[in-house]
Amino acid sequence: MDIETAQKKVQELHDLLNQYSYDYHVLDKPSVPDAEYDARLQELVKLEEQFPELRTSDSPTQRVGGEILEGFQKVEHNTPMLSLANAFSEQDLRDFDRRVRQVIGEDFQYVFELKIDGLAVSLRYEEGLFVRGATRGDGTIGEDITENLRTIHTIPLRLKKRYSMEVRGEAFMPKRSFERLNEQKLEREEEPFANPRNAAAGSLRQLDPKIAAKRNLDIFVYGIGEIGDTGVKKQSEGLDLLDRLGFKTNRERKKCENIDEVINLLHEMQDKRQSLPYEIDGLVLKVDSLEQQEQLGYTAKSPRWAIAYKFPAEEVMTKLLDIELNVGRTGVVTPTAILEPVRVAGTTVKRASLHNEDLIREKDIKIGDYVVVKKAGDIIPEVVNVLVDQRTGEETDFHMPEECPECRSELVRIEGEVALRCINPKCPAQIREGLIHFVSRNAMNIDGLGERVIAQLFQEGLITDVADLYELTREQLIALERMGEKSVENLLNAIQQSKQNSLEKLLFGIGIRYVGSKAAKTLAQNFETMDRLMNASKEEVVAISEIGEKMADSVVTYFEQAEVITLIEELKSHGVNMEYKGPKLQAAEESDSVFAGKTIVLTGKLEQLSRNEAKERIEALGGKVTGSVSKSTDLVIAGEAAGSKLSKAEELNIEVWDEARLIEELG
Ligand code: IVH
Repeated sequence: MDIETAQKKVQELHDLLNQYSYDYHVLDKPSVPDAEYDARLQELVKLEEQFPELRTSDSPTQRVGGEILEGFQKVEHNTPMLSLANAFSEQDLRDFDRRVRQVIGEDFQYVFELKIDGLAVSLRYEEGLFVRGATRGDGTIGEDITENLRTIHTIPLRLKKRYSMEVRGEAFMPKRSFERLNEQKLEREEEPFANPRNAAAGSLRQLDPKIAAKRNLDIFVYGIGEIGDTGVKKQSEGLDLLDRLGFKTNRERKKCENIDEVINLLHEMQDKRQSLPYEIDGLVLKVDSLEQQEQLGYTAKSPRWAIAYKFPAEEVMTKLLDIELNVGRTGVVTPTAILEPVRVAGTTVKRASLHNEDLIREKDIKIGDYVVVKKAGDIIPEVVNVLVDQRTGEETDFHMPEECPECRSELVRIEGEVALRCINPKCPAQIREGLIHFVSRNAMNIDGLGERVIAQLFQEGLITDVADLYELTREQLIALERMGEKSVENLLNAIQQSKQNSLEKLLFGIGIRYVGSKAAKTLAQNFETMDRLMNASKEEVVAISEIGEKMADSVVTYFEQAEVITLIEELKSHGVNMEYKGPKLQAAEESDSVFAGKTIVLTGKLEQLSRNEAKERIEALGGKVTGSVSKSTDLVIAGEAAGSKLSKAEELNIEVWDEARLIEELG
């Protein structure tokens, strides 16, 4: 066969196999027997062996999983992946509805969707070709899991139109696949997954895509990251477009005219929940019109045009076997209930924090009691109340100890606090917890250093403070239990990479009392370098509007400690970055840039700058970039195929620039 004929044949086979696969996986209506699909696929495999140059990344043969990866690359999302605000009752939904009506009036519709219980992913298409898939991560930066996502049959590798777009959806494991997988795991004497969501997440985090390919994952897509030139004006139209492009969207969606209709549907879905072949943990309500969505806008974390209704938490009864004490990073000693293991909302619960002694008294909790347990926000186990009727008289009272359970130094109750604290700065428990905090996601974000590894390293005396992390060697790590070559290499890379973090991550990570991740960012933005912050007086710190008296005190006292100064010096000598790398603050009025003090909206596709780059550079010059056009917008930058935001700007007579003008003004 010559190459032209082969090419034509390959194309035919792609089309045919894609159609079979779509009928089978998306429509759930197989159009041919499995044997026919397999035969055609084999035909394609043979042709690709004969003409390897015809094997493309969108070939149906590429779904079986390719090479084993070394690790996952971090990727920045073109538009942030936000999460949704939660509603826990019908009243919360009615309150949401009232807020919506206050802004956009009565003339609108909702789209009602199921809240699929899996994990959020973003799928990037260039000219119709699937080029990259990522996890949500922290919303701005996720992980590249393209090779694993490629194995999901309901993700088209090529769209039916040559769009460049980012599609968002929920990857999940169907209930049946989950059960089958756990049966296999039990047969192999492996730990089963706690629930389908963990199973899906675990599968997509496999470095070997061949394993992911065997896990029968699926996806429902629910939105478009950037609408671009698709002409879509409503969420419902977006979903219809996604259908036409070959994606799998959820069929249970409905348009609703008002909140009563929504609440009726909610009751219907609650009854139907068990019979669905996949897990849902609630419902999502979205304002249909994209223009009205823009009018409603966003809070820092989530859109104001949508809300997630979470089903009420399941409550179960179990026995409280004991109360254990845990010492946290700040020395607070927390009593924790040890429970007779019980299944709640998909996972087995064995422990629940009891917070402090006052709460134990208030709920009248005794060791040996039968208690009601639920998961708050469906994640954190909580003791709701005690079943006093079930008492036998054998139950015993609990009292907080006077000494730290780890280092035996005397516990103190700080005025105005309910908690008891160990104030020994050398307390091993505090140090260990501090290390765990340092590597966590919002701090230095070192992957591969979970609690278990930190505890091991600490136990072995390999790390006593955070600076020691940067001295770890391959030999030391490989000697640890359950650490293979690959994980050691990945871990060392992750440690190395963390040296480049912007200052706020370090500031949050070192654990200055009262300094959360937001305050750390504010401090980093204002002082820009560690040295400047360390040398700042209390007056200078408190002068920052978001920083209060108590925090300023804590910051200044922290940096006065000799051990802290030594620690920072050590981190510096290991090459840990001590500078703020994010967008600079500038007193708007003082800056003489044209952007200073202006509220600017970016819309459409920019050719030369990425969205983020443009945003950062504008902000560096004192401008503020927002998501939606309103009367307070000063300037709109319109790229290719700008849509409704541009029309709105024109309507409101707002100045509009093209990308060339933007670049010129940015200098
Ligand atoms: S919309 C900005 N729709 O629920 C809007 N989310 O916090 C982004 N989810 O992690 C989300 N089903 O992955 C949307 N039909 C649906 C969804 C859905 C599940 C997940 C989503 C996110 C979380 C919301």
